[in-house]
Amino acid sequence: MEKMLTSPQIIQLPKILDRRGNLSFFEDDNQIPFAIERAYWIYDVPGGEFRGGHAYRKNEEFIVALSGSFDVVLDDGSEKKTFSLNRSYYGLHVPKMYWREMNNFSTNSLALIVSNTKYNEDDYIRDYNNFCALRKSL
Ligand code: TYD
Repeated sequence: MEKMLTSPQIIQLPKILDRRGNLSFFEDDNQIPFAIERAYWIYDVPGGEFRGGHAYRKNEEFIVALSGSFDVVLDDGSEKKTFSLNRSYYGLHVPKMYWREMNNFSTNSLALIVSNTKYNEDDYIRDYNNFCALRKSL
């Protein structure tokens, strides 16, 4: 039943090496598996803070550590996996219905997140027990 959902994965983005500085990119439905409706970024995170602590019913995300590093912990209701993002050319695809936390932010780290839906508080699941129950019913 679980297999009906896609699994999270790190996607390596193109890297155009140049002595003037490197360049990476992604495009809708090309390097990332959805069409982008929204972008937001997280910055100036104080040491020791964590973000997230929720899941989305429909929203999918693609997360890139543009600068610095941080960890994304994804939980499918029975198993937790930690993905460390520490290169500007790696992105993590987070499918819908994963409980996610972000922690271990390095000083001056910058997280870029693009997603396939506009911001909608109704799409959030903010109660972990509720999330586990919904997951089991999938
Ligand atoms: P939230 O998604 O809970 O942050 P995080 O997962 O990083 O801990 O969002 C924090 C606040 O920002 C919340 O009040 C909603 C608001 N927000 C928007 O208005 N638009 C957005 O696109 C996002 C992601 C959050």
